[in-house]
Amino acid sequence: MENGAGNGRPPASAAAWNFEPNGTLLGLTVLSVRSVLGRVKAGMVVDGGGGGGAGGRPVIPMGHGDPSAFPCFRTTPDTVDAVAAALRSGEHNSYSPCVGLEPARRSIARYLSCDLPYELSADDVYLTSGCSQAIEIISSVLARPGANILCPRPGYLFYEARAVFNGMEVRYFDLLPESGWEVDLDGVQVLADKNTVAMVIVNPGNPCGNVYTYEHLAKVAETARKLGIFVIADEVYAHLTFGRNKFVPMGVFGSVTPVLTLGSISKRWVVPGWRLGWIVTSDPNGVFQRTKVVESIKSYLDISSDPATFVQGAVPQLIENTKEEFFEKTIDSLRQSADICWEKLKGISCITCRSKPEGSMFVMVKLDLSCLQGIKDDMDFCCQLAKEELVVLLPGCAVGYKNWLRITFAIEPSSLEDGIDRLKSFCSRHSKPKVHQFLET
Ligand SMILES: Cc1ncc(COP(=O)(O)O)c(C=O)c1O
Repeated sequence: MENGAGNGRPPASAAAWNFEPNGTLLGLTVLSVRSVLGRVKAGMVVDGGGGGGAGGRPVIPMGHGDPSAFPCFRTTPDTVDAVAAALRSGEHNSYSPCVGLEPARRSIARYLSCDLPYELSADDVYLTSGCSQAIEIISSVLARPGANILCPRPGYLFYEARAVFNGMEVRYFDLLPESGWEVDLDGVQVLADKNTVAMVIVNPGNPCGNVYTYEHLAKVAETARKLGIFVIADEVYAHLTFGRNKFVPMGVFGSVTPVLTLGSISKRWVVPGWRLGWIVTSDPNGVFQRTKVVESIKSYLDISSDPATFVQGAVPQLIENTKEEFFEKTIDSLRQSADICWEKLKGISCITCRSKPEGSMFVMVKLDLSCLQGIKDDMDFCCQLAKEELVVLLPGCAVGYKNWLRITFAIEPSSLEDGIDRLKSFCSRHSKPKVHQFLET
């Protein structure tokens, strides 16, 4: 049956099929971190042997936020035991209810309520396949003809991809680098109109590595209330903080403005491959019931797939049995990596790092192209860097911020040091001679 011509007839030509590609869908790959990183890595020539690169050097992956492969970020045996027990029990081999298993929803409600001034119930929690599916569901639930959604810039462009796919307009408000990447709330008020359904905040921040204060979140809530828009709080990096500000969940302000809290076990438990996330309606006043958001979420779940039942079955034990020491160890590793990153980046002249990261796994740095020769923009910088140094960074265009770079520091400290050293030698090799720089400014 090779070439589909096993029956002796010629294969049907493509023109015989009624399929036409969806141009919107094909255009969305520019908004995908995976696709941009694929393009960055395309020119890299990696040694066949054991992940080593040219000259035996390993690839340094500082482009995406998945530290699970590094020994210092490996998940705890407690989480593995929880999944193993769920599997061995034989009780989780069936399809699950669309909203998720009740014990898992109850334990997530209890876990999140510890940081809230009110109690969540299992009915406030919907299980999803990672935080990604939570975003996908919320975007579909909120979309209607003419609606628009406000997203941060720089930001996590998956929100834009899902909104555009659902026919929703995306409007961008700025995060202010000079104010610790706080939301430009005046800008939000200018952008919003009667068709604005929600605003997105990501806290702790991807891509900026910032953590919002209680006071700033209170202002976000007041602004949203005034404008009559919901807040979508992406808290996938919840509790991954190692600076001045402690993590405050947006749900604390749920009685000021209704909040859709999105989260997952991907980052705090360092198991992104397990695909377990949630949507939580943080809304003690019942606005989401009255406005039929709850009914819409349930309707969407009726027509979508569920996270694996045995992972749902593991959630109560996973939450109860994970020891504080594991979380502390992860935070210590992140703090150490953030310190290394901050100190070492200071020594690279064409890169400016304004604020030290205090949460998540990322830092945004500004690229000064006027110091460099033979480099067009951030994408070109990352492609050439990957090719010459086997260091992978995410170009700012993938987070809506041209000519900046997002650096993931959540890797093994020795690799991080090596990666930044290689970044430095790349920058010196491509630097314009000082006299040129002087003449051009
Ligand atoms: C801000 C943000 N939201 C959502 C996600 C998706 O999370 P998950 O891996 O749980 O699907 C990510 C993943 O990196 C993220 O950075």
